[in-house]
Amino acid sequence: MLEQIKILKSEVEEQVSSINDLVGLENFRLEYLVKKGKIQNLFELMKQAPAQEKPIIGKELNVLRKFAESKYDEFKAQFEDNRKTQPSIDLTLPGRLSNIGSAHPVYQVMDDMLTIFTEMGFAVAEGPDVEDGLHNFDSLNFPPDHPARDMQDTFFVNVNNSNENSENSENFVLRTHTSPVQVRVMKGMKPPIRSVMPGRVYRNEAINARSLAEFHQIEGLYIDKNVSFAELKATMMTFAKKMYGENSKFRFRPSFFPFTEPSAEMDITCFLCGGKGCRVCKYSGWLEIAGCGMVHPNVLRSGGINPEEFSGYAFGFGIERVTLLKTGIDDIRLLYENDTRLLNQF
Ligand code: DAH
Repeated sequence: MLEQIKILKSEVEEQVSSINDLVGLENFRLEYLVKKGKIQNLFELMKQAPAQEKPIIGKELNVLRKFAESKYDEFKAQFEDNRKTQPSIDLTLPGRLSNIGSAHPVYQVMDDMLTIFTEMGFAVAEGPDVEDGLHNFDSLNFPPDHPARDMQDTFFVNVNNSNENSENSENFVLRTHTSPVQVRVMKGMKPPIRSVMPGRVYRNEAINARSLAEFHQIEGLYIDKNVSFAELKATMMTFAKKMYGENSKFRFRPSFFPFTEPSAEMDITCFLCGGKGCRVCKYSGWLEIAGCGMVHPNVLRSGGINPEEFSGYAFGFGIERVTLLKTGIDDIRLLYENDTRLLNQF
């Protein structure tokens, strides 16, 4: 029997040295420490041993059981300790990338434009999207019968305000341009004024590759004593070169807006054909990027500014147009389909 105990002891010692996790430890317990386990089996066998050998066998078996139990307790404490200190995640795995959102390309371009203008000394101002007819048209020197006021071009807003009679409520529109903010800025401060005014604008227009019913503009206004057209041109050129690069080519051409006199439009060489003429530029080689001009004296008056004392220039950029030219996208509708394959590129 003593020989059997010796064999089991070396077996237990060997098993102990190979325990390296909780599963191994549990197998060890089932093999040696439970009621039907190998150590208890020998206690059973001891009953058949001669009486004078029993004390010594009992002693040896007890030593073996104590040894196995203490090893079991030792490992258990160690593994449970590890469990507490070791995080349950595998830190060696590569991390999972989360999807990070970013500004829409049109807003990225808007931010770039605002940065350039603020670096040039312009402040940023904003006005309401729902505008009254007075600011959107009248104070900008639109004559009462101007076609832009027409139902075809303008979204009229029914403002159901109990203080408003129905005649008045017809006077509210979704602003068709950011120019009304010029008048609000003039009313709110004294010259010198240097402001850019970004925002959303709305037109009751058919949607196609070139135009949307809802888009964005940045308006600019500069008012001081003796402001000249040369300053307007210099500002526009400085902006455009910063936006499109030193080598891009621009031209100014005479135009008409009720709120400026004289008025001009600024064109950039067509990005698609490089000036040779194509479908996008209607075979002219040029694409319009902004309207501009010297602020009409009537507009200064609407803003509470004396045109005898002050003069100024104004300009208006379509931000989607600037975005298309910058990115080479040739259909404005793509900007608002929210296809992540396109948006992820910016
Ligand atoms: N408001 C004009 C439009 O929506 C753009 C514009 C043209 C703005 C000339 C101006 C300007 O300030 O001077 O088409």
